[in-house]
Amino acid sequence: MKLFASIAVGAAVTIAALPAGAEEKATVKLNLDKVNPELTIPAEIYGQFAEHLGTCIYGGLWVGEDSQIPNTNGYRNDVLQALKDLKVPVMRWPGGCFADEYHWVDGIGPKKDRPVMINNNWGGTVEDNSFGTHEFFNLCELIGCEPYLSGNVGSGSVEELAKWVEYITAENGPMAEKRKANGREKPWKLKYLGVGNESWGCGGNFTPEDYASEYRRYQTYCRDISGNHLYKIASGASDYDYNWTDVLMKKAGRHMKGLSLHYYTVKGWNGSKGSATKFDNDDYYWTLGKCLEIEPVIIKHDSIMNVYDPNKKVALLVDEWGTWWDEEPGTVAGHLYQQNTMRDAMVAALSLDVFNRHTDRVKMANIAQIANVLQSMVLTQGDKMVLTPTYHVFKMYAPHQNATYVPIEIETSSREVRDGRMVPTISATASQKGGELNITLSNIDLKEKAEITIPLEKIGKNAVSGEILTSAKPNDYNDFDNPDKVKTVSFKDFKVTKDGLKVTLPPMSIVALNVAL
Ligand code: AHR
Repeated sequence: MKLFASIAVGAAVTIAALPAGAEEKATVKLNLDKVNPELTIPAEIYGQFAEHLGTCIYGGLWVGEDSQIPNTNGYRNDVLQALKDLKVPVMRWPGGCFADEYHWVDGIGPKKDRPVMINNNWGGTVEDNSFGTHEFFNLCELIGCEPYLSGNVGSGSVEELAKWVEYITAENGPMAEKRKANGREKPWKLKYLGVGNESWGCGGNFTPEDYASEYRRYQTYCRDISGNHLYKIASGASDYDYNWTDVLMKKAGRHMKGLSLHYYTVKGWNGSKGSATKFDNDDYYWTLGKCLEIEPVIIKHDSIMNVYDPNKKVALLVDEWGTWWDEEPGTVAGHLYQQNTMRDAMVAALSLDVFNRHTDRVKMANIAQIANVLQSMVLTQGDKMVLTPTYHVFKMYAPHQNATYVPIEIETSSREVRDGRMVPTISATASQKGGELNITLSNIDLKEKAEITIPLEKIGKNAVSGEILTSAKPNDYNDFDNPDKVKTVSFKDFKVTKDGLKVTLPPMSIVALNVAL
């Protein structure tokens, strides 16, 4: 049942009450006169996360030089191309929980000499360390993205992390000589350095007070070397843990550039998380309500950060987010392999809209994870690869990267979903770059189409183009036998009128419009 309430969902968007009606009639007003040219949507909002977990790295990104699967220096070609097309801005590695058991020296030098280890967090799989620092940094160079390292605090040492930074960034000195001996003459650039991961849990079970002290100590010895500048990131809270943010900001805020936040769209941590593909309409709407709850969570963390940092010098980085379902039946326990449906695509669109409207504080977000794990971009099986519905959303939203944010006001209906959360029917983001407007719109309703008016003056007849992602059912997905069930196609259901653009969105659809101004 649809209810028509007024919900405030963030700085630049208001959702006003609308009378009930079968077909949605919404307005998306672009406040072009209120654009702040300084407020861009950082490309890093579209960041990725690659952990040594299941087949994310091995099989997903990396197959090794000797593989039958077509590859470039060991990276599979199909995935490489897909990630280049996606314009991945930043990739976080090597974990996750794995990061706090990872010893980087095990992953350098001749592969035959690299020790094996047990991946204790993720199924007890044997890790042969064939993908290490060189393989990660070279991958980032090939894709053209910023590397984001997660350092080991839980089972590592200050010396180990400091030397890793030196190994990567120094022109000269003992660590640089070691790197050169391993085949890399020039240092890499390293901007994003995470000091630990989930330090309240798998990263060491610290209290916030103890972790704040550890953070201060670790970051002291991670130095800017040879002209490299580190952007140091403290391990932040899990969703509703506001005390963690408070203590970290109070005790260590002035030593960090960023504080992380993890928020998963998950039913709970005990028992079944629900199937990725078998769900009913109620489950679909519940999922969107849960995913949108990240907005009040961000607002609350931001308000705490404001107490210590009113000028928003410390960024909030949502460096893990996305859906978490039960593992697909028949897959390896602990490898977190899940399918990805139109429901996941909708979660991606709505979450990105939330991040886009909070970029005064939120400067990066890294969906979990890039391949074969949780809400991934690609799924692989042997030499086959499919692009997930979530991949398509990231591609449709790519024009927002580094574009100027356009504040919008949406008038739409909303519905109450299981657990009492309110979910607006229409969600959107608008941005401006180089004489073009890019508008992404979603209609979450499973049955009704939506007619959306976007008041705009002086649009040329052929100035608008669009593409759409939709499917017959919310649990439609792409599989190796049917890789293009959910894909983007050209979208033409819009009219340029004297009142602006009139767009008709089919039920459960995501549309990207490009308008030449
Ligand atoms: O993304 C999977 C896991 O979720 C990460 O390793 C951990 O940081 C989080 O709990």
